Amino acid sequence: MNSETTEIRKGLAGVVVDYTAISKVNAETNSLLYRGYPVQELAAKCSFEEVAYLLWHGELPTAEELEKFRAAERAGRALDPHVKEVVDALPTSAHPMDVCRTAASVLGARHPLAEDSSPEANLAKAKDLFAAFPAVVAYDQRRRRGQEVVEPRDDLGYSENFLWMAFGEDHVPEVVEAFEVSMILYAEHSFNASTFTARVITSSLSDLHSAVTGAIGALKGPLHGGANEAVMHTFDEIGIRPEESLDQAAARAKAWMQDALAQKKKVMGFGHRVYKHGDSRVPTMKAALDKMIAHYGRPELLGLYNGLEQAMDEAKAIKPNLDYPAGPTYHLMGFDTPTFTPIFVASRITGWTAHILEQTASNSLIRPLSEYSGHQQRSA
Ligand code: COA
Repeated sequence: MNSETTEIRKGLAGVVVDYTAISKVNAETNSLLYRGYPVQELAAKCSFEEVAYLLWHGELPTAEELEKFRAAERAGRALDPHVKEVVDALPTSAHPMDVCRTAASVLGARHPLAEDSSPEANLAKAKDLFAAFPAVVAYDQRRRRGQEVVEPRDDLGYSENFLWMAFGEDHVPEVVEAFEVSMILYAEHSFNASTFTARVITSSLSDLHSAVTGAIGALKGPLHGGANEAVMHTFDEIGIRPEESLDQAAARAKAWMQDALAQKKKVMGFGHRVYKHGDSRVPTMKAALDKMIAHYGRPELLGLYNGLEQAMDEAKAIKPNLDYPAGPTYHLMGFDTPTFTPIFVASRITGWTAHILEQTASNSLIRPLSEYSGHQQRSA
């Protein structure tokens, strides 16, 4: 092909690069399946541990398999003292995603199977990373607040223990459930930017932790995972006023959105590369947010949420994505805004590593072509 006939697909939009049996995103029907199961159903009926197992193994665990997996996960939760030392050496001005990226790299370099990328070693590494990561995210938020590490508890499920390590206090079941739902919804989403990054790194026969470290870098950007934090920045810019009524907050949010769109701003938490008529995960996450708004008694946050959503719909018919309800949910639970994307990391480790296993099982080096647009050959 020459330059006149070469079709450039910027951002690989619409390009199908491989098969995957892990998840199916159907933009036409606004649906998302993990290994054939609708994600809403998994969120309603399964624990995050079961969903993680499903993503790796292709089937939900039997009671016995789940018990064994849970025991191993609980045994791997404590913050590795070497990771803590490295995290402590990072300035608190560093973004928590930089801390996650560094921690993933340290965990890789210290893993006993570091140089073994066999399917068995990769599965073991994936499960170890899954167990170890909440302690990193929880501790990083605590150290920024001048607080000590909270040791994990093995009488709690993954999500409840995550909240325990972050805040050092018990949470009521409604809050644990909302957090668990978010973990399940964030777990996997086919060939998104960070997953594709992980697959590209894996395709060169690099190791699992290198692939996850690269994926964390991709997720950090506001066009991808960083959007859940950006949503909170929008709320902050509009002004969160707990004393306000739902209608007052909605009116201010609408006016803010109209102004932002008049200035041609991109508003984070809206739009999606694949879903053009709404994100399949939003109704489930919005239901969890509604419960948190009722639990914490904060109707004005719903006003901000509704006002922005309505004004965006009226002006451009662009729908919210998962980050839109997830951001305020984490805010209500008491997480600091910069911790939101690291929570997404803890969840997405499952999807990334499932893709790393899949890529390894049927590998071909990912190496696209480019059309040269620089100078013609010349002499120095
Ligand atoms: N706010 C305002 N306008 C938006 C928008 C948003 N969040 N998302 C898309 N648009 C507009 C674009 O400005 C563009 O308008 P134009 O045709 O008049 O130029 C049109 O919709 C198409 O957008 P584009 O960015 O080309 O679509 P895409 O498929 O490349 O982008 C995203 C998908 C996710 C990158 C994009 O919607 C976005 O930047 N959203 C905000 C970031 C975000 O929430 N990311 C999390 C994704 S889960």
